[in-house]
Amino acid sequence: MSKTKKNYIDLGERGRLNKNNKLNDLTGKEWLKFTKSWFILRPPRRKENELLHPAKFPETLVEEFIRFFTKKDAWILDPFMGTGSTLIAAGSLKRKSVGVEITKKYFTTANRRIKQKGFSKLASPLQGNSLQLKNVLADNGFDKKEFDYTITSPPYWNQLERNSIRQKDRKQKGLDTRYSLNPDDLGNIASYENFLEQQALVFDQVYDVTKPGGYLTIITNNVYCDGALYPLAFDTAVSLTKRKEKSWVLKDEKVWLQDDKKLIALGVNNAWVGNRHHQYCLIFRKEK
Ligand SMILES: C[S@@+](CC[C@H](N)C(=O)[O-])C[C@H]1O[C@@H](n2cnc3c(N)ncnc32)[C@H](O)[C@@H]1O
Repeated sequence: MSKTKKNYIDLGERGRLNKNNKLNDLTGKEWLKFTKSWFILRPPRRKENELLHPAKFPETLVEEFIRFFTKKDAWILDPFMGTGSTLIAAGSLKRKSVGVEITKKYFTTANRRIKQKGFSKLASPLQGNSLQLKNVLADNGFDKKEFDYTITSPPYWNQLERNSIRQKDRKQKGLDTRYSLNPDDLGNIASYENFLEQQALVFDQVYDVTKPGGYLTIITNNVYCDGALYPLAFDTAVSLTKRKEKSWVLKDEKVWLQDDKKLIALGVNNAWVGNRHHQYCLIFRKEK
């Protein structure tokens, strides 16, 4: 590593690191690479204790976002923690993190995985209801905490219940095909409009605990239900930018292309039903 002119440190292959970089610890070259609007990710095969959860996202994906949206020692939040992927990704990048999960067995899995990785000092998994996010944080001593970044994947409305063809295989293997029967679990909300409103109530609270200028990434998708596509990802984007007081600014979407999923014969010889092999990573910022 050698010093070049004034504000830059030359990191060789990685490129040049600007000492005044306000957002992250990336070189200009790495920064630019991440700004592409799509990426292909083939995550490593999930381990047995992770298979229990029906919709875990890969740590490698979260790591890329955390690297871009934070510096070392930042505080990261995940209000829909599941099995703790965000907290593990944060720990491996030396960031501190808090996650909230409503379902005890996923909380227990998250807790165990965090301990196994040796991240207990950096990561705080909490069991609770994110509709009461600020109370859950306060009850656990995080009432004064301001987070630099939130990355999360809420339930995709009622998709686990509905997506019966894809879930058939899991059912046969005796794996979970829904998160819980708890009415506060957002995955159990029947009405699409109500789901959007409840989801927005969680992100209102995330807004309150985010530092000014902090970012939020939501991984979600448009969903197919009863013969029609519900633009859940797009409506999520709209709903969070139209709040009375706590409106997030939508900055972009990055599309996660999944080219490792099998095509399923849906509607063949009859009518259009797509194989949806991509997801949206929506990027918001708190600017007011
Ligand atoms: C798409 S999964 C998140 C998976 C997670 N990213 C992972 O990699 O394991 C959504 C999670 O939100 C949880 N959840 C649903 N409603 C919740 C609520 N009101 N408060 C906290 N967690 C909730 C579900 O139990 C589920 O684990």
